[in-house]
Amino acid sequence: MAPPHRERSEPFENGCICIICVMVKILRDKIIDVLKREDYGVTVNVKGWVRTRRGNKNICFIALNDGSTIKSVQIVADLEKFSEESLRKVTTGACLSVNGILVESPGQGQQAEIHATEIDVLGEADPATYPLQKKGHSLEYLREIAHLRPRTNTFGAVFRIRHHMSMAIHTFFHERGFFYFHTPLITASDCEGAGQMFQVTTKNLYNLKMDEKGSIDFSDDFFGKQASLTVSGQLEGELGAMSLGAIYTFGPTFRAENSNTPRHLAEFWMIEPEVAFNEIEENMQLAEDFIKYCVKWALDHCQDDLEFLNDMYDKELLQRLNSVIAGEFVRLPYTKGIEILEKAVADGHQFEFPIFWGADLAAEHERYLVEEHFKKPVILTDYPKEIKSFYMKQNDDGKTVRAMDVLFPKIGEIIGGSQREESYEKLKQRADEMGVPTKDIWWYLDTRKFGTAPHSGFGLGFERLMLFVTGMANIRDVIPFPRTPRNCEF
Ligand code: 4AD
Ligand code: MG
Repeated sequence: MAPPHRERSEPFENGCICIICVMVKILRDKIIDVLKREDYGVTVNVKGWVRTRRGNKNICFIALNDGSTIKSVQIVADLEKFSEESLRKVTTGACLSVNGILVESPGQGQQAEIHATEIDVLGEADPATYPLQKKGHSLEYLREIAHLRPRTNTFGAVFRIRHHMSMAIHTFFHERGFFYFHTPLITASDCEGAGQMFQVTTKNLYNLKMDEKGSIDFSDDFFGKQASLTVSGQLEGELGAMSLGAIYTFGPTFRAENSNTPRHLAEFWMIEPEVAFNEIEENMQLAEDFIKYCVKWALDHCQDDLEFLNDMYDKELLQRLNSVIAGEFVRLPYTKGIEILEKAVADGHQFEFPIFWGADLAAEHERYLVEEHFKKPVILTDYPKEIKSFYMKQNDDGKTVRAMDVLFPKIGEIIGGSQREESYEKLKQRADEMGVPTKDIWWYLDTRKFGTAPHSGFGLGFERLMLFVTGMANIRDVIPFPRTPRNCEF
């Protein structure tokens, strides 16, 4: 009886090759798997994009990459078997399907290579116009060709790590019994009260309906009221926590702040856990455990990509990642932090922005505390209530709130969170004082009327985490298609 058809093109014990594979089509192998194989002599098929091509008049070496790993597989084409003409279209950027024999690479430290028997050019890339010709393009230039930059080693590494960080986040919360709660992207309330929202409308902007006072009347707009893209899923997240116990959100958020910095995006992703019965101390511990888990996940799952980024961009990256998971984060009240910064100024340290009790910390202040003073991540707590949002639990001193910002080396603020005000009266009063229209958040205030409880949560900026984990210096380089002021290409 004929032996059964086998997946891929492994030979049978008697050395024969499956005729169906040969006649029909050899199944494609991902390069990450091919490079691990040691069953030399078998026929394999790989598909991918040409990174480089070199050689002489006898032999041609092609580095082929399919995105499954940072490593490219070496294709060796003997020019006796392939005419120069047939290889003419094998240029940088072209897409190939290659059949060949898996051979142990003679090069030291190299894994398997493929001796080509058949090369199909699936898609040409004209060398005269393909923009990714040479190695070492600047990151600024690569932003202008964001449609092609995932094909570089750098962005392949960054976006693979981004995927792994997403998996780490879901796994962390799932393992701890949190429920993934989907909060809306279109909203009629401004969670952070900073008025930095993008409006959502179907109105004809050239023919707006006005009321008697000259204000725009939104009653005939799609939602019958003014609507925007959300700046945070927290308010709705709290509704989830006050019923499911512990939830997290993980989705896009939008901020129309005109901040042209290496740490701000107009569209970024945020992870917001919210937990009933957690007080600020438990919230801090959750934040610390969460970030450490993500960093460890990267070290465990993204070794090749991290080593590449460490070598190419930031020689201290791996050491910094390891040191963050090894030590405890410092917990420090804001007032103590200000004392340290004031002392630094008195000792001659120069900051661009002034520092005093009541000031919102700039990234330079946050980084001084983390990088120079403590040399560890710092969780700063109990900020002045004037510089924090209306929903934070008020301390008995009447001046501060139970806020917590997690400050990180190279980044500054990576997490912002707090214990929430659970008293209806105090919350309503603070919303009124800060000009948050309570008619928009009556449903949020209701949670404090019906079965209120202490609860806490925080928001981690996903791209800030990505900056830390990859060592990249600009937030535009850790999201595939960045949205920033005056930039909405791709
Ligand atoms: O500190 P923020 O504004 O806090 C909130 O939105 C709360 N509602 C979170 C909560 O308690 N559930 O933002 C949280 C984090 C920041 O620490 C920062 O990492 C990131 O979101 N972030 C940004 N990331 C990129 N671009 C921006 N424009 C960002 N603004 C905030
Ligand atoms: Mg913040």
